[in-house]
Amino acid sequence: MSQVIQLKSELEQRINAANDLDSLEKIRVDALGKKGAITALMQNLGAMQPEERKAFGAQVNELKDNVTRLLEDRFKTLKAGAITARLKAEQQDMTLPVTPQAKGKIHPISQTVDEMIAIFADMGFTVAEGPDIEDDFHNFTALNFPEAHPARAMHDTFYLPDATEGKDKKRLLRTHTSPVQIRTMMSQKPPIRIIIPGRTYRSDYDMTHTPMFHQLEGLVIDKSTHMGHLKGCLIDFCKTFFGVNELPTRFRPSFFPFTEPSAEMDIGCDRSGGGLKIGAGKDWLEILGCGMVHPNVLKNCGIDPDVYQGFAFGMGIERVAMLKYGIPDLRTFFEGDTRWLDHYGFDALERPNLATGL
Ligand code: DAH
Repeated sequence: MSQVIQLKSELEQRINAANDLDSLEKIRVDALGKKGAITALMQNLGAMQPEERKAFGAQVNELKDNVTRLLEDRFKTLKAGAITARLKAEQQDMTLPVTPQAKGKIHPISQTVDEMIAIFADMGFTVAEGPDIEDDFHNFTALNFPEAHPARAMHDTFYLPDATEGKDKKRLLRTHTSPVQIRTMMSQKPPIRIIIPGRTYRSDYDMTHTPMFHQLEGLVIDKSTHMGHLKGCLIDFCKTFFGVNELPTRFRPSFFPFTEPSAEMDIGCDRSGGGLKIGAGKDWLEILGCGMVHPNVLKNCGIDPDVYQGFAFGMGIERVAMLKYGIPDLRTFFEGDTRWLDHYGFDALERPNLATGL
């Protein structure tokens, strides 16, 4: 009998002293588990006389109920305490101000390319790409640059060591994005309507030239495409890109080996007062080169010039970005100065699109 009382007070003490769920579980096993103290008492019952068994059995049962209840109560208390402690440990003060951190910015070149893509995509153009390391055939020959023609020298080409195999072994860094016209016309059937943004390379370095720069090329080939389409497309592009609805434009005759006729497009601007404002004014600003694709170029790509014709254009991305965003020096684009990027860069969440403005 005293055994039961002693066990009861011992277990009560231990349960009340348990400070965490693990030690409480250990007490439960010690008391009620297979080899537990209360379980052992129950097993003794079988060997007792009926009278004794009845009295002792009732006591052990009561002890078992008591201990079970105590364990449950303590479990609830400890569990609630554990949750409170965890919440406290994980608490965050939402009223604290956010520490200012260096924030990434979109480079003006990337932003400008995305803006141009948004505008031309709306006119039905898709984006095409080609390699930066080109061969002489795609960069010059197929574009109707005759051997030893001065136009080749004008490009200040970076030549690379000759390739060891392949049809055209003479390798170079592409001097313009026009070779992608050739690659596209040789691999796709007309109608073709593509723009080609990408890196280009020329050996030149001053205020307005860097050895690496970017161009955006355009090419449209179809059966009835004519110079009126070229003009309409480029005028619409410039109005949207510069956000000026009343934009004076003019096309001046020019020369490129791969177009005939060739032209340069100017947009109106105002330089009075020392600044530069795009739109109506007394002055003109050259913006891009363009023309109707030369029949020789079509032939070089296996396209019949008696059936198909089209137009092409090319413009410097840095140049239009400088004009649109008032960036004075071309070289700063590639200096990697984070203060410059902080000033001229764009927020990553403001992606250009026609719906909300560019
Ligand atoms: N490829 C020329 C350059 O780099 C730019 C150009 C002019 C591209 C006229 C064209 C074009 O497609 O039609 O100077």
